Amino acid sequence: LGPRDLDGVHVVVSAGGTREPIDAVRVIANRSSGKQGYAVAAEAAARGASVTIVSTVDRPAPVGAAVERVETAAQMQSAMERLAPSAGVVVMAAAVADFRPAAAVDRKIKKHDGVPEIVLEPTPDILAGLGANKPAGQVLVGFAAETDDMAANAQRKLVAKHLDLIVANDVAADATGFQHDTNAVTLFSPDQSPVEVPLADKRQIAAAVIDRVVALRRAATD
Ligand code: C5P
Repeated sequence: LGPRDLDGVHVVVSAGGTREPIDAVRVIANRSSGKQGYAVAAEAAARGASVTIVSTVDRPAPVGAAVERVETAAQMQSAMERLAPSAGVVVMAAAVADFRPAAAVDRKIKKHDGVPEIVLEPTPDILAGLGANKPAGQVLVGFAAETDDMAANAQRKLVAKHLDLIVANDVAADATGFQHDTNAVTLFSPDQSPVEVPLADKRQIAAAVIDRVVALRRAATD
């Protein structure tokens, strides 16, 4: 049996990619499988946390975790804003769409209407909002997929979004990121040297993330 170092802590994890409606049947989606978020949730639950997953994907809930299903960035935002204030740890592992159709059509757009023009607007940055309203003592974790200048971009987002940890996906490597069962990441926290977690099963990556979360909680109460 592993450590129960999150006993009694409420952990909220977002997982999966959001889907933004174009019309009654079509969406703008992304390839996120939710696997890394579910692995973080499973690891936190195994270590004693009470876990809520705010999820866009249809996956079995890990033992000890409750799942709240959402579809759009707006729905994910309202769920996270409701759950985060009383959470000890919040992990935004979801791939939130950056853009959505400005106005969803409430019927199916017909082929004979011609090729539609879809006007996009930005979605709210959920994580930035959670950071701006972060309660004292909460550990707030973001994910980032960076192709270049990973360290500089991760450090900038840490500060700008008031995060305690950024998990940067090494998107250049093979077998990492979307849909794979394995991942390779670098952990960035304020005032700490980056720590690389080499290619491993997503559950092992999750364990490294939760180890860092536990260390940050300890440092905050010392
Ligand atoms: O700035 P960037 O999109 O790279 O940040 C990624 C992080 O921000 C992820 O943790 C993701 O869940 C979160 N995010 C968000 N709302 C958005 C876009 C990203 O919460 N609209």
